[in-house]
Amino acid sequence: MVDDNQDESPHAASVEVGELLTRLDRGEPVVLLDVRNQDEYESWKLEPRRPVETVHVPYFDFIEDGDAAIARVPRGRELVVLCAKGGSSEMVVELLKDAGVRAANVAGGMLAYGVYLEPVKLPLEAGEAGRFELWQVNRRGKGCLSYVVVSGGEAAVVDPSRHAEWYAAFVRERGARIVQVLDTHIHADHVSGGPELARRAQAPYYVSAGAGFELRQPVTPLGDGQQIRLGGDAGVSIEVRVIRTPGHTPGSTSFLVGGRFLLTGDTLFVASVGRPDLGGHVVEWGRELYASLKQRLADLPAETRVLPAHFGSQAEIGAEGVVWGRLGELRASVPELQLADADAFVDAVRGAVKEPPLAYAEIIKLNLGAQASEEQVALWELGKNQCAASAQRASRA
Ligand SMILES: [Fe+2]
Repeated sequence: MVDDNQDESPHAASVEVGELLTRLDRGEPVVLLDVRNQDEYESWKLEPRRPVETVHVPYFDFIEDGDAAIARVPRGRELVVLCAKGGSSEMVVELLKDAGVRAANVAGGMLAYGVYLEPVKLPLEAGEAGRFELWQVNRRGKGCLSYVVVSGGEAAVVDPSRHAEWYAAFVRERGARIVQVLDTHIHADHVSGGPELARRAQAPYYVSAGAGFELRQPVTPLGDGQQIRLGGDAGVSIEVRVIRTPGHTPGSTSFLVGGRFLLTGDTLFVASVGRPDLGGHVVEWGRELYASLKQRLADLPAETRVLPAHFGSQAEIGAEGVVWGRLGELRASVPELQLADADAFVDAVRGAVKEPPLAYAEIIKLNLGAQASEEQVALWELGKNQCAASAQRASRA
């Protein structure tokens, strides 16, 4: 990972976020030196799937008293240095190099971590594998999940992050073309790449904003129960069924892929449910969410695999690298689904939700069709999602 020629190079040795996460997920003994200020460090951390040894020495400590700061850095271990954007950490790598301590810079810092996308192919059953591919795209730093379904040379993309080019290239590499782009709802934590991706692919875009929201971009409406078919030309195909599940937002929609995979958006997570409070109607939306969870999804078999739009803890990533759960098990394990009735449900979620995310109102406006600069969007999107109704529990077995 560390550039062996670093002594001759004018630049600090560096490592990409994806490579670093892969190594830390495997449990390789790399020490993370985080040089952000205290507030930044406390509010958002790099989280591999296994615990990582982290040493926090703010950048300003290196400036004020370099020798004392360098003395706090562990020796004889592989060291990577992390900051907000990759600039201060690069300088720290240089300071360490001058002091004879070898380290690599995390290229792009937490900003790069926040936009890094990791595609994970879902293991399918024998009868499914020849008909379609289903990918979960994990935006590790934010805990956002999007999906790509490919069948017979056609693809649907669900809840894409704003990096439309990444999804376009990913589908191209699978030898397919995008024929449908879908959002489960108007997101409040990240800017959707759906409208741009649909424009590029000249494919229909679907989202349902619901009552009280003015959508300022074109969508192709889909009715409750409607089926979208992908593929067919090559003799293979897959159906995606639309299931209206209002509550997290009035327009929230779930998609049932191949009769077995339920893309729930922020309706149901693997350890909690979506928060129904962000529109200022927590009682009304909370009741709708309860009805969606208890009635709209009641007919689906226990074996249905729930694939949510978010996760709160790395512990929710299963052994296969996938964030998912069996509907039957979630009905028995998610605390909000154990409550006696809608009143108890509303009381519980109202009491549990945290402060709204900082820029949620601005992000909602963008997802309804407003525009902002890339720099502004990147700033609004910083940090992990806070979409769950309760503090996420690492309850997944
Ligand atoms: Fe959401």
